[in-house]
Amino acid sequence: MTVKLKVESVFKLFNDTRKEGMALLRDGATKDEIFRSTGVTVGINDVSFEVNEGEIFVIMGLSGSGKSTLVRTLNGLIRPSSGKIFIAGEDVASCDMKRLRAIRRREITMVFQHFALFPHKTVVENVAYGLKVKGVGPTERRKAAIEALAKVGLDAYADSFPGQLSGGMQQRVGLARGLATDPAILLMDEPFGALDPLIRREMQDELIALQKELKKTIVFITHDLNEALLLGNRIAIMKDGAFVQVGTAQDIVSNPADDYVRAFVADIDRSRVFTASDIAQDADHIPLKESVLGALVVMDKAGVDVAHVVDQDGVLAGMVTREALTAVKPNTPVVEVMEPDAPSVTSEAYINEMYATAQNGVLMAVTDSDGKLVGSVEPTAIFGHLTPDTETATEAEEDDGKEDAGPPSDETETEPANIVDAQKEKSL
Ligand SMILES: Nc1ncnc2c1ncn2[C@@H]1O[C@H](COP(=O)(O)OP(=O)(O)OP(=O)(O)O)[C@@H](O)[C@H]1O
Ligand SMILES: [Mg+2]
Repeated sequence: MTVKLKVESVFKLFNDTRKEGMALLRDGATKDEIFRSTGVTVGINDVSFEVNEGEIFVIMGLSGSGKSTLVRTLNGLIRPSSGKIFIAGEDVASCDMKRLRAIRRREITMVFQHFALFPHKTVVENVAYGLKVKGVGPTERRKAAIEALAKVGLDAYADSFPGQLSGGMQQRVGLARGLATDPAILLMDEPFGALDPLIRREMQDELIALQKELKKTIVFITHDLNEALLLGNRIAIMKDGAFVQVGTAQDIVSNPADDYVRAFVADIDRSRVFTASDIAQDADHIPLKESVLGALVVMDKAGVDVAHVVDQDGVLAGMVTREALTAVKPNTPVVEVMEPDAPSVTSEAYINEMYATAQNGVLMAVTDSDGKLVGSVEPTAIFGHLTPDTETATEAEEDDGKEDAGPPSDETETEPANIVDAQKEKSL
């Protein structure tokens, strides 16, 4: 993995002309205490992180926690009080203006919450603006701008004016403008903050789809944890200028570092955080060319009454039940008894995308993008991941399961059933 951005122990204190704020901070004083006693504001407090190529790194925190200050130090709009910020081998925290301008031109683009489009320029002129600044000629920059607009589905609006577009469309133009210069790093400070919830969801999905194709390195700022969890490959939670936790959505939701993070996590929609792969168990599978007798041996050994059948490439072929197997002669080929339409989900499916399949009430197969069986999920198990308390219980179970042959089957069956009841009661 290539590191595209490396931040080392960055501090930013506002109005700290006499360095007294820094001294107090080193002695362990809080942001609040420092402000009260000296009038110095701690903007960033000892932040370090790296962002890998193609990663969306989300910085999330309440208003005033320092997100914008941090993102502005990354493109040199604010110089930190101390620390280093490496982009393309250059320390943007200390390099001269000429080098900084060169880095901004080549490596980094910022997309803002307020689209900051020029009202009297057409959409395509707005998108081409960054290229014009870069010195790209008119024909070439119009071509690049139209391409960028096509990526966000707005090439047909190239010659419209921003005022003729909806807010969501204007933000897409802002995004196209960011993409047009083809920067290595995109900085996005609350880019969807001004959009209404439905459009916001659309833009989030669109960014995810775009990112699959473009694989940009993105630093994305938000104060909405659901947005952070949806978009971030990793998320940093910021408080009073410091990072209190950095991790994947699953890390943060499963193990919040402190009460501040726990308070955020309490309200989030877990069904949009955990995927089939997070809750899948190892699947006991039966080869397609097996006989009924052989299949029953596999099932006895695993202590299960339902199992998936796979072909010679490991691709899901169907499922069998003990009931069906015992109703026929032992030498019958499994393929004759098998139910070919086994309910299945892909390993990246979020829990909220699994409800419909779970309603079959049948063990779900979990497959990779090639259709290969990678695990299975009991329909009831998905509810176990929707409340914080049961989360830890399920995790402990899974850990046990890795060492032994597997958790006792009666326990896994009764536990989630109770959880389902509790869940139902809650929603009534
Ligand atoms: N130019 C400045 N002078 C003095 N203090 C500043 C300046 N800019 C920011 N601050 C302070 O730095 C802290 C971090 O502000 P910042 O704007 O980075 O927060 P934020 O997390 O982006 O908040 P929001 O979610 O409201 O955008 C705040 O306490 C703010 O008052
Ligand atoms: Mg801000």
